[in-house]
Amino acid sequence: MPFLLDDANASARLVGLLDSAMDAIVSVDDTQRIVMYNRAAERLFGWSAREVQGKPLDLLIPERYRDGHNQQVRRFGATGTTSRRMGDNTVLYALRKDGTEFPIDASISQLQTPEGKLYTVILRDVTERVRAREELASFAAESAGVREQEKSRIARELHDELAQSLTALKMDTIWMRDHVAAEDAAVQEKITAMLAMLDTAVASVRRIAADLRPLVLDDLGFVPAIEWVAQNFTQRTGIPCDLRVDETLELEEPFATGVFRMVQESLANVGKHARASKVEVEVRARGDDLLLRVQDDGIGFRPNAPRKPQSLGLVGLRERAMLMRGEVRVESAPGTGTTVEARIPVGKRPA
Ligand SMILES: Nc1ncnc2c1ncn2[C@@H]1O[C@H](COP(=O)(O)OP(=O)(O)OP(=O)(O)O)[C@@H](O)[C@H]1O
Ligand SMILES: [Mg+2]
Repeated sequence: MPFLLDDANASARLVGLLDSAMDAIVSVDDTQRIVMYNRAAERLFGWSAREVQGKPLDLLIPERYRDGHNQQVRRFGATGTTSRRMGDNTVLYALRKDGTEFPIDASISQLQTPEGKLYTVILRDVTERVRAREELASFAAESAGVREQEKSRIARELHDELAQSLTALKMDTIWMRDHVAAEDAAVQEKITAMLAMLDTAVASVRRIAADLRPLVLDDLGFVPAIEWVAQNFTQRTGIPCDLRVDETLELEEPFATGVFRMVQESLANVGKHARASKVEVEVRARGDDLLLRVQDDGIGFRPNAPRKPQSLGLVGLRERAMLMRGEVRVESAPGTGTTVEARIPVGKRPA
């Protein structure tokens, strides 16, 4: 290192280097007192280096995180690791001089020096990133809402317009059958085929409309709609469904549709894959949360195994839960049956 001529010079260069960094850099000794604090940190926190020199690091941490943070640093000190990203699963927050909090990204490193251990935290303000993520989430929720509305409109139109017209057509066809000469066998045969075709068409239109949107949800409300899916499931598959739903439950949109779809998809999976002899569906409120459980006693599967890319059901389940700011857990293993459990915070507004 030819340019480090003497200690004073080296130290000056080091300070210059730290001060030119874009990220805030804060070092503390093993009693968590601030021993180094660069210019970016001054800008970020609002304290000058002179003000924080020798002060506890707590000064820069919101009160409710202080204990947790101190423990974390101590635990980090006990590991031999030299550096690590902080708060891998959560957003960390820091505290400004003016009392405001802001989200940060931080990493910590440790160094043994003759004066004891030195911990250095490098951090940056990620307010923008957090805001962008929230905007994206609320955009996703909004577009999901628009999609549901559009589906609902198409379902309504199919049901009210197309199905009604087909039904009217069927009436006319019956009238025709009764008015053509009975001995004209060819015409009679044709009309019988037309009637059968019309029945199939009405049934398909109703099925497509119901898949697009369960009109019962609009017409009768959430609980009867869930009862309808459960009955419908048993009718189609022959698998008995034990439904436990809190009768007094009322859900607003987007929760009613979201939870309804989750039940629908979970039951569809039981019907398609589980070979179950029974299934239990439970929907109940707990505080601000809605809890959903769909449990079958079928063949089970490995939830973490790679799936066919065209399998959208479980992915959709996760996506729906996320849009409503909730979470979903799928517990299963070959031979043990499958449980889908979700917690949706319906008491709070979504994204
Ligand atoms: N209740 C269940 N019992 C047994 N296996 C299940 C169950 N639910 C899901 N699976 C397994 O998980 C896989 C993925 O399910 P997913 O709902 O994502 O896709 P899919 O049902 O195959 O297709 P899609 O839902 O897109 O029509 C299924 O193919 C099946 O192997
Ligand atoms: Mg599926």
